[in-house]
Amino acid sequence: MQTLTVGLGERSYPIYIGSGLLGQADLLRAHIPRKRVAIVSNTTVAPLYLEKLQYTLQSMGVDSVSIILPDGEAYKTADTLNLIYDGLLTNRCERSTPLIALGGGVVGDMTGYAAATYLRGVPFIQIPTTLLAQVDSSVGGKTGINHPLGKNMIGAFYQPQLVLADTDTLNTLPDNELAAGLAEVIKYGLIRDLPFLEWLELNIEKLLARDTAALQYAIARSCQNKAEVVAADERESGERALLNLGHTFGHAIESGMGYGSWLHGEAVAAGTVMAADLSQRLGWISAQDVARIRRLFESAGLPVVSPDLGTDKYLDLMGLDKKVEGGKIRFVLLKEIGRGVVFGDVPAALLRQTLEACVHA
Ligand code: NAD
Ligand code: GLY
Repeated sequence: MQTLTVGLGERSYPIYIGSGLLGQADLLRAHIPRKRVAIVSNTTVAPLYLEKLQYTLQSMGVDSVSIILPDGEAYKTADTLNLIYDGLLTNRCERSTPLIALGGGVVGDMTGYAAATYLRGVPFIQIPTTLLAQVDSSVGGKTGINHPLGKNMIGAFYQPQLVLADTDTLNTLPDNELAAGLAEVIKYGLIRDLPFLEWLELNIEKLLARDTAALQYAIARSCQNKAEVVAADERESGERALLNLGHTFGHAIESGMGYGSWLHGEAVAAGTVMAADLSQRLGWISAQDVARIRRLFESAGLPVVSPDLGTDKYLDLMGLDKKVEGGKIRFVLLKEIGRGVVFGDVPAALLRQTLEACVHA
């Protein structure tokens, strides 16, 4: 097992990464002071892992209330959030009752927001079960839900007390979901960790084959990158925005195609290719660099061509992204491979060229 720390002073918390962690009561004990917790999961993950978690909790003398949500990005809504509140209120959960998210990023983001708001805040534990959630969404405290007019538009920064990433859960993850997680892994290499990017280029086959050592290394290295960024800039007033590489375009793809139609990681991959294309048009990276980025996403089984929503539709959808400031879209782009920057002065003509070029193979 590897242990990392997200350093946020009194709100610092550990990330445990390893095999068999769902069965390790001692990792949870310190964070569950009372005899009751509420577990939020979904209809796919609960049949796979809920009983195991409940068994571990029972071995500590802890009872659990379970709230099982419908599965999918399309359910990351206010209505589904309300199901969590319904379950907590019906079962008379108190301010001291920890809320445990057992699932991927959708369950984690919604449970975190419920934890931030139920009784004005209850303790929160992340048990991520997708690669994407283990390398990104469970760490850093961004929580929230979608609005029909924009993704993740309603939310709060609310840090968990603990992240427990049991890598065994990845054995049941569908191949396309594993690939989607790799998009966020590749992101860390592109924005701030060139040696990691080079390692990924050499080891992508092992990751796709679910080689345990390779996966654990990639998860830990990703979490280390994320923890450093979050510790430096928890509320995204600076460096944290780099974690949104490909997301301005990607969120437009996700909401333009209808939530759930493209996986988040797939949209991030195609969106990152757009960001790379735009960086090249600005003269920062070369055509060879863009080709290298496309190759890596392709070798991870991810899309590199964006859907043809129409340029005006893209512009419209991107205008609603949270990364808009003072009417200008602030893009995360690449000054070079391994160095991301936030840039708000993209000439409209170049942006249009990227939007037109990247929807063709
Ligand atoms: P997801 O939560 O929808 O999970 C993907 C699918 O895998 C779902 O069908 C889920 O039920 C299933 N699943 C989960 N664990 C499984 C397992 N072990 N075995 C088999 N099936 C399993 O999607 P995701 O990719 O985990 O997360 C995407 C979400 O995360 C998006 O809503 C995105 O906005 C959010 N996100 C948040 C942050 C953040 O910082 N909070 C960062 C990145 C992404
Ligand atoms: N996934 C982006 C962030 O956590 O800031």
